[in-house]
Amino acid sequence: MSLSEEEAFLTLHADLPRQGPGLPEDVHWALEGLEVGREARILDAGCGPGADLETLAEARPMARIEGIEQIPHLADEARERLGHFTNVQVTTGDMGALSDFYDFIWSAGAIYFLGVTEGLRLWRQSLALGGAIAFSEPVLDPDAPQAAKEFWADYPQVTDYAGLKARVEAAGFEVVDHRPLGTAAWAAYYMPLAARVARLRAGADAELEPVLAEAEREITLWRAAPDHVRYELMLVRPGTGPS
Ligand SMILES: C[S@@+](CC[C@H](N)C(=O)[O-])C[C@H]1O[C@@H](n2cnc3c(N)ncnc32)[C@H](O)[C@@H]1O
Repeated sequence: MSLSEEEAFLTLHADLPRQGPGLPEDVHWALEGLEVGREARILDAGCGPGADLETLAEARPMARIEGIEQIPHLADEARERLGHFTNVQVTTGDMGALSDFYDFIWSAGAIYFLGVTEGLRLWRQSLALGGAIAFSEPVLDPDAPQAAKEFWADYPQVTDYAGLKARVEAAGFEVVDHRPLGTAAWAAYYMPLAARVARLRAGADAELEPVLAEAEREITLWRAAPDHVRYELMLVRPGTGPS
């Protein structure tokens, strides 16, 4: 039986600690910056295999925490990982169709699937009074090296920070604070991915080769310009103006 492109992708991305850049300290910074309460209702939108759910659960043991992830296989991994936390629930579903209210929505490397402005507009309807959102999103400076531009070639919507702020404001939100995700945040994603590529390649499954080569290309581009391949971590709240 030949592997579909999707199956090959899922094979590569199975059993990784996370599916995008980020570190526990980023989650802590957001919780503190937005003064998220001890008993807050928290959502991790596009939680992947649940790395940040684990940090959220440890940092806010009294909170009611949910993760939502559309890929069943990743949602299962998150459920397994978070199984020992009684206050965490993971749903397989669409983060663009939320049905509950939250004090804090966290979303690492996922809002671009909805679009920043569109995603914030949707999530605003699920924010409790006084609620806030933290999300990470690619940014690219116009004078960035070619490797960084090539890295984001498949994401033409990428802008510099000013452009990202404008997309936030277009949704009727204001920026409370922001900071770039550092090289260590990317390494937390790419080092395990590189190790998995090497392990799978040793298995010599020719059908996996295109996804392995693509992952390697991405990691090589990142290594060529690690200070310029950036995500910005944004802390935002609904503003007083129209959305
Ligand atoms: C780059 S990964 C980041 C995953 C996780 N936040 C992390 O940092 O490990 C983006 C995730 O968003 C999920 N996603 C994309 N669109 C979604 C949607 N509409 N509903 C739920 N999850 C979605 C993807 O399946 C993927 O797991």
